Amino acid sequence: MEKGKGDYNAHCLILPYPIQGHINPMLQFAKRLRHRRVKITLAVTKFLYSTMQEFPEFVSIETISDGFDEGGRAHAGSFEEYFETFSRVGAETLMKLLERLKNLDCAVDCIIFDPFLSWGFDVAKKSGLLAALFFTQSCAVDNIYYHVYKGEIKLPLSDDEIIIHGLPPLEPKDTPSLIYIPGSHPTALKMLVNQVEHFGEADWTFVNSFYELEQEVIDSMAKFSHVKTIGPTIPSMFIDKQLQDDKEYGLSIFKPNTDACKKWLEQQAPCSVIYVSFGSLSEVGPEQMEELAKGLKASNKYFLWVVRASEESKLPKNYAEELSEKGLIVSWCPQLEVLAHEALGCFITHCGWNSTLEALSLGVPMVAMPCWTDQSTNAKFVSDVWKTGIRTWPDEKGIVRDTEIVRCLELVMDREKGKEIQTNAIKWKKMAREAVDKGGSSDTNIDEFVSALMNPPI
Ligand code: UDX
Repeated sequence: MEKGKGDYNAHCLILPYPIQGHINPMLQFAKRLRHRRVKITLAVTKFLYSTMQEFPEFVSIETISDGFDEGGRAHAGSFEEYFETFSRVGAETLMKLLERLKNLDCAVDCIIFDPFLSWGFDVAKKSGLLAALFFTQSCAVDNIYYHVYKGEIKLPLSDDEIIIHGLPPLEPKDTPSLIYIPGSHPTALKMLVNQVEHFGEADWTFVNSFYELEQEVIDSMAKFSHVKTIGPTIPSMFIDKQLQDDKEYGLSIFKPNTDACKKWLEQQAPCSVIYVSFGSLSEVGPEQMEELAKGLKASNKYFLWVVRASEESKLPKNYAEELSEKGLIVSWCPQLEVLAHEALGCFITHCGWNSTLEALSLGVPMVAMPCWTDQSTNAKFVSDVWKTGIRTWPDEKGIVRDTEIVRCLELVMDREKGKEIQTNAIKWKKMAREAVDKGGSSDTNIDEFVSALMNPPI
């Protein structure tokens, strides 16, 4: 570990929840801080550290414990047990880490914590440090959870329409799934709702979004929290190109099949390929997997499909072999490079917030197939607010059928039918770049934070 603060302006410790979709945006924010001469320490769990395929070079990596150093979440009896143990052991080991850094003459000034780990706030305050919340989901989603937390939205939902200031009228299925499906995952719901516990109390509240994308909701949230958008947190060379070395996220839990993807994409015509991915966590049921497989085949288009190793057994028998050159199935890919490729025509996505922002920032039209949590709300905004994609609808069994997939692909990819969506995709790409570029809304918010770190209140 690098000793001392040296030439740095300040020292921030980043505390992410140990999943890819949370690490990526927090690390990208860290890069923007590092570029402004802020020293960064990334605190990861011992188990995550043991599984990392890549190690970012611009940060010091330190470990804390979630209480399950040999297997992480999978070794806990239940999510509840994991969450409670992590809260206790995580806080203890983080306190020790802060003490150690202080003794090395490398004291931390601010903890930037994932609100899934809301105990990060208590540790920061006990240690006399600044505490900054970092939300990895959209402002719209955070705002919905805030209203549930405050008891202004009562669960289970009883109305057909949910009205929240700053948001369009929402039907229940437009809210996060943990809210509209009663009892579907009580511990996760508690964790997600409690994310907003320190709204208004934390010294800073950052969100991976950009002002122009969620202007109305951000203005409306100002009543209870001064949210600072600092995104989209896409590696700089894919967006504003201010950070010349920033070509990838730099910390991967999975190993990408980079060469195979690049080689295959090079052979395809511009705007012709469908890219399919459901992120790092979602599990697609076997029947849904079969319908998707049939739909992709029936579309008669070329497609690149990420099926994680744990999902592979659900593919129809001999499916990959029968596709020949029409489709490529990989267990993980360099998603940004794929989305930025000129062969890309459309992204069938679960609408995880990172994937949604990445597609928006790279101008790729979407077919939204939300699976759970915030994804239904993201899908609502993609189709009805930003209008950069179409949302698929499941049948009464909850399955999105092959015909529905083909219908949506046509509406997005057809030159005439998809014109409005394709034009909007280009518009949002430009606005996303402007937000992080010099003097843009997110860039200015980051400057403001660093300037405050350098001049703490006396
Ligand atoms: C989780 C939740 O599921 C999601 O709803 C929430 O908004 C964020 O946290 P995840 O499901 O993994 O995330 O989805 P997403 O947010 O889209 O993040 C996935 C990340 O993995 C993206 O940054 C994407 O670029 C990357 N990825 C995905 C790859 O690099 N390669 C792949 O093959 C697939």
